[in-house]
Amino acid sequence: MSRVLRVLVTGRDGQLGRALLEAVPEGVEAIGSGRAELDLADPEACRRAVALHRPDWVLNAGAYTAVDRSESEPEQARAVNAGAPAAFAEALAESGGRLLQVSTDFVFDGSQGHPYAPDQPLAPLGVYGGSKAEGERLAIEHLGADRTCVLRTSWVYGPVGANFCLTMLRLHRLRAEAGQPLGVVADQVGCPTATAGLAAACWAAITRGVTGRHHWSDAGAASWYDFAMAIGELGAAAGLLQRPAEVVPIATSDYPTPARRPAYSLLDCRTTRTALDLPPRHWRAALADVLARVPVPAT
Ligand SMILES: NC(=O)c1ccc[n+]([C@@H]2O[C@H](COP(=O)([O-])OP(=O)(O)OC[C@H]3O[C@@H](n4cnc5c(N)ncnc54)[C@H](OP(=O)(O)O)[C@@H]3O)[C@@H](O)[C@H]2O)c1
Repeated sequence: MSRVLRVLVTGRDGQLGRALLEAVPEGVEAIGSGRAELDLADPEACRRAVALHRPDWVLNAGAYTAVDRSESEPEQARAVNAGAPAAFAEALAESGGRLLQVSTDFVFDGSQGHPYAPDQPLAPLGVYGGSKAEGERLAIEHLGADRTCVLRTSWVYGPVGANFCLTMLRLHRLRAEAGQPLGVVADQVGCPTATAGLAAACWAAITRGVTGRHHWSDAGAASWYDFAMAIGELGAAAGLLQRPAEVVPIATSDYPTPARRPAYSLLDCRTTRTALDLPPRHWRAALADVLARVPVPAT
């Protein structure tokens, strides 16, 4: 009989953390850790957690994810997004474990115009992407690429948490009632990724012992405008909206934000899908599944 794998999952209360803990595979003992148990900004606490739990893997799903706020709080973003993976990697190098570091499409600048391969050079545009890129680099530097899995993903959303899909459902409702259009950015292209599929990819990486740099998103491509349109259409079909609002395409320059975002951040997931033996699933199909899990609002 094969041994049970002990996995310390950080970010337990985040979108991905919750999906991970709902889908722990057979043969894995998951130890979920939230902010109350472990402050990811404290490297000594990260090292102590490894010494205490002696995990076979740390699955670092916790992160400072406030992209715009990070521009005014760079030290906090770096402490969590670079400091924690560095500290986990140092401790795991001693204890003999491995690290799955979840990372982001924001490590690329988006100027390429075709999907990014996992081994391409990084060029983040802002503090958040920069801190995640530093986390990747430090993890591999301390633990080695053969004991670190960097799994980059994009546009993460699920049935709970703070995300674009749930925000759009609320805005569709408000704007449709008020008879006002909803302007959504149409010149940034990427791919939405549902937490359930991303969690399955993380667990497959761990149970298969996949390391190195990898990319995971749902399949297809979309602008935020396309995604908002589909949320309206499928949200109405799922009974979450009486009717969608009119969605109008706007330019990034019409919706200024503190952080610059990549204009095109599709991730080439082909080698990762093969390594994980997981088939592609189109983002619209995944969106329908997520919407089926969102509670219908009381009218
Ligand atoms: N969301 C996206 O669109 C997206 C896109 C690409 C990649 N990613 C990556 O995917 C991973 C999962 O993201 P997600 O969407 O699940 O993020 P999330 O919902 O924001 O969850 C992140 C979790 O990390 C926790 N956290 C933040 N600072 C902490 C600290 N100092 N100590 C302990 N816990 C702390 C948060 O706790 P609090 O709630 O208490 O702050 C939260 O539970 C992250 O690595 C992220 O960088 C996300």
